[in-house]
Amino acid sequence: MSETTTAATSGTFSKYAQVYDADRRPLIPGYDELYGVGLRLIADEAQGRPLRVLDLGAGTGLFSGMAMETLNISALHLVDASAAMLDGARKRFAGDARVSTAVDDLVTMDLGSGWDAVISALAIHHLEDPDKRALYARIARALVPGGRFVNAEQVAAPSADEEARYVRFWKADVQARGVDDAGLAASLDRQRHDRCAPVGTQLGWLHEAGFAEVDCPFKLWRFAVLTGRV
Ligand SMILES: C[S@@+](CC[C@H](N)C(=O)[O-])C[C@H]1O[C@@H](n2cnc3c(N)ncnc32)[C@H](O)[C@@H]1O
Repeated sequence: MSETTTAATSGTFSKYAQVYDADRRPLIPGYDELYGVGLRLIADEAQGRPLRVLDLGAGTGLFSGMAMETLNISALHLVDASAAMLDGARKRFAGDARVSTAVDDLVTMDLGSGWDAVISALAIHHLEDPDKRALYARIARALVPGGRFVNAEQVAAPSADEEARYVRFWKADVQARGVDDAGLAASLDRQRHDRCAPVGTQLGWLHEAGFAEVDCPFKLWRFAVLTGRV
């Protein structure tokens, strides 16, 4: 992914940063499961042990906020290419010494090391496929042995016909959940930056990156949780 592409994506998200959180639940059928399933998995494995957690494409810190409620977190680092989105996260976690943030590009940044868990929600699908694949390998190297990666993600359908069905179902579902024409238009504007890949392909990349117990513990049409342990 070029710098220009990252800048275009983060620019669009910056535009919607103020209204982003309020839009989320109605726009995401399966919202509770999408965000909750992976954190439940991490919590069950950790059994209360303090965790160092990295959130990639953290935006306003929505997923991180849920992680804080579900896990015993000793350090939480949030990364996003949009400074305006991260401003929301800084407000959310103001005064919490465990939390740090950085404006950076997932494609090129140093992920560091020693993370017990790497989490990401609805962000990695903005990367081109070779960058997703390379990122999965970099995440595997950044985790401690036994560490878990959870990607709560928007995915592509397995064929063009199925993709048309995913879009049709999503529009019907979000309209039934009260999203009006303006909300739909804003979401479609952000979706210009989507580069979704199918679940099967991505599970293969995770396996190839060195993850074990690769799994998809939740999927509802275009929303899915992808996970693995190193
Ligand atoms: C749909 S939002 C998700 C935010 C948050 N994870 C959540 O679930 O609410 C996608 C985020 O990914 C960020 N993003 C997209 N491409 C990125 C890249 N190459 N590097 C860093 N962040 C990126 C955007 O700026 C945006 O904040």
